[in-house]
Amino acid sequence: MIYSRIAGTGSYLPKKILTNTELESMVDTTDEWIFSRTGIRERHIVADDEFTSDLALHAARNAIEAAGITANDIDLIIVATTTPDKIFPSTAVMLQNKLGIAGCPAFDMQAVCSGFVYALATADNFIKAGAAKCALVIGAEAFSRIVDWTDRGNCILWGDGAGAVVLQASDQQGVISTHLHADGNYEKMLHVPRKTEPHARDTVVMEGSAVFKVAVNTLDAIVDETLIANGMQKSDIDWLVPHQANIRILQATAKKLEMSMDKVVVTVDKHGNTSAASIPLALDIAVRDGRIKRGDIVLMEAFGGGFTWGSALIKY
Ligand code: UT7
Repeated sequence: MIYSRIAGTGSYLPKKILTNTELESMVDTTDEWIFSRTGIRERHIVADDEFTSDLALHAARNAIEAAGITANDIDLIIVATTTPDKIFPSTAVMLQNKLGIAGCPAFDMQAVCSGFVYALATADNFIKAGAAKCALVIGAEAFSRIVDWTDRGNCILWGDGAGAVVLQASDQQGVISTHLHADGNYEKMLHVPRKTEPHARDTVVMEGSAVFKVAVNTLDAIVDETLIANGMQKSDIDWLVPHQANIRILQATAKKLEMSMDKVVVTVDKHGNTSAASIPLALDIAVRDGRIKRGDIVLMEAFGGGFTWGSALIKY
């Protein structure tokens, strides 16, 4: 039996930090409101000359080093992103070129905040089918570029960053199961409508509290689905590495799992919601600071525009 296993993780955050206090001078808000409603204190923002493929490159190099491989060993690249550098070519192909390699398949995955879980599931299936042996799976976003910085109801949420894993074929179990879903009935609750005025910038529109309620219920259901599929109990999960949308959503999922918050990897306070990048960023931080160890059972789950949602259960 061929399994896929995470051989190394990496991440990158742009240097510029935007604090809640700075946001107070941009929109009618307060640090107190943002922190109490979302758990966010600050987020990182790309420089004018920095693009998603640049963030992905830093994270990829970290993961390649951690895995003890070279870029030439990679035979599949998947970049989950909603904010590609260009409409085409894909960010994955641009990243491949920046890594100094060519030839292997490289493509982007668009499932918004669920993108990393979708990308991990895809790479896992390539490896299990024998179509790849060493995949680079990335979530990278320059989300600040599609934010309406005058809309206080959602500009306070988002941040930029990238996280990466090297996923290798192994005879030891790594990815245990993945579960993916989508429902386009909810398109207009969280989307980027196309503007018709010339030169207008397309930006995120969200019905925040309605999205919040569907997210909590849907994530409850995906936790059950994942545990039942594997005949596992809540207590079998060592770590929850959730998509970092809002601390109150993370707390609701932890409650569902009867898990104390110190078993939940939380980065939303410092990163905000980095969409497809949030799970691999959080995973890398908890691996590097020694919380997540080899053999630990880790549940990742995400919910985002579409709606899309999904989970990945792994043995690290
Ligand atoms: O990652 C993909 C999925 N995305 C999510 O999961 C996001 C889910 N949604 C959320 O995280 C929350 O809904 C938000 C953080 C976006 C908003 O929090 P909320 O508790 O749902 O607030 P709300 O939209 O119901 O607004 C409550 C009040 C309103 O005032 P009134 O009508 O009660 O007078 C808003 O106008 O808070 C007001 N408000 C603000 N006040 C200060 C909204 N945004 C702000 C703000 N500062 N930034």
